[in-house]
Amino acid sequence: MKNWLPNMRFFSLFGLMALLLAGCGKPYLSTLQPAGEVADIQYNLMLLSTAIMVLVIIVVSILFVYVVVRFRRKKGDEAIIPKQVEGSHKLEMIWTIIPILLLIVLAVPVVSATFKLADVSPMEEETRDENAIVVNVTANLYWWEFEYPDLGIVTGQELIVPTDERVYFNLKASDVKHSFWIPSVGGKMDTNTENVNRFWLEFSQEGTDKADGLFYGKCAELCGPSHALMDFKVKPLPREEFDQWVSDMQNAEVSEPASDLAAQGEELFTTYNCIACHAIDSKEQRPTAPNLANFGERSSIAGRYEFTEENLKKWLKDPEAAKPGNKMSYSYDHEGMTEEELDALAEYLLGLKVQD
Ligand code: CUA
Repeated sequence: MKNWLPNMRFFSLFGLMALLLAGCGKPYLSTLQPAGEVADIQYNLMLLSTAIMVLVIIVVSILFVYVVVRFRRKKGDEAIIPKQVEGSHKLEMIWTIIPILLLIVLAVPVVSATFKLADVSPMEEETRDENAIVVNVTANLYWWEFEYPDLGIVTGQELIVPTDERVYFNLKASDVKHSFWIPSVGGKMDTNTENVNRFWLEFSQEGTDKADGLFYGKCAELCGPSHALMDFKVKPLPREEFDQWVSDMQNAEVSEPASDLAAQGEELFTTYNCIACHAIDSKEQRPTAPNLANFGERSSIAGRYEFTEENLKKWLKDPEAAKPGNKMSYSYDHEGMTEEELDALAEYLLGLKVQD
């Protein structure tokens, strides 16, 4: 009886874990709370394959227990040899055909979904749909660039998209292999340096509302010491608001500093040579660092901290501590920065906006 004890402990621990981990599914980050057409299709495939696996486990377990109980050696049976079924044509047919049928049930929807999810014809030249939004995604060591080639605008770290329609992506990497993943909205896709991968995603308004208007995006390919911190955010907007944002981005002038402190910050932006890598014009694309034109409207600092002035200063003061191995560290004398300078620089950066 005592031998059962460790097993019981294991199962109760397992049960507790399942209960606790079930609470981890957040609507802005969980594959199990699909928020769009692609995520729905993939979620249903997961359910189907899980159902088939569970069915197989149940049937096999029942058969196993039945056989063990029913055909036990009983007292007095020692001399009897049971019927031998080795090489039974009938049985072999059964356990060959059943798995094939199960695989067909799984394969038909998987293959059809694969073709559907790979249909990027609206972004292709010959079959171009002028209304389709296309985004060029470039993954860089620990930050993401989102360029809208048809609209002539560019953002860093935050992807803005219209809801309830297919958005098409060209994915590539500038340095090493990364992987673009918005867990709630669809499966991941690698970003490579040598070729462009393409796919589409749809961001449902309903899912967006559940996620409070902001999805979390991740890098899903081990790319260096800050791989786990290579996050981005996705803000889906109803089409009208999206169009408004686009036009604000297109017409944005480079933000003028709104106060004396911000004006000092603007000067420091040049003194510390930030301007050499970061663009502050919403139409300018630069491969060196994220575009900061709408920095003041972002929802996180360095992709990982809550968007507060304090966190911004923490990041500027010691980028290496926040994101080891990032390219901003050691590109300026951050250790020599005074509190006053940090205040001024933060004031200036927080004032960079394209919308009122
Ligand atoms: Cu980029 Cu992991």
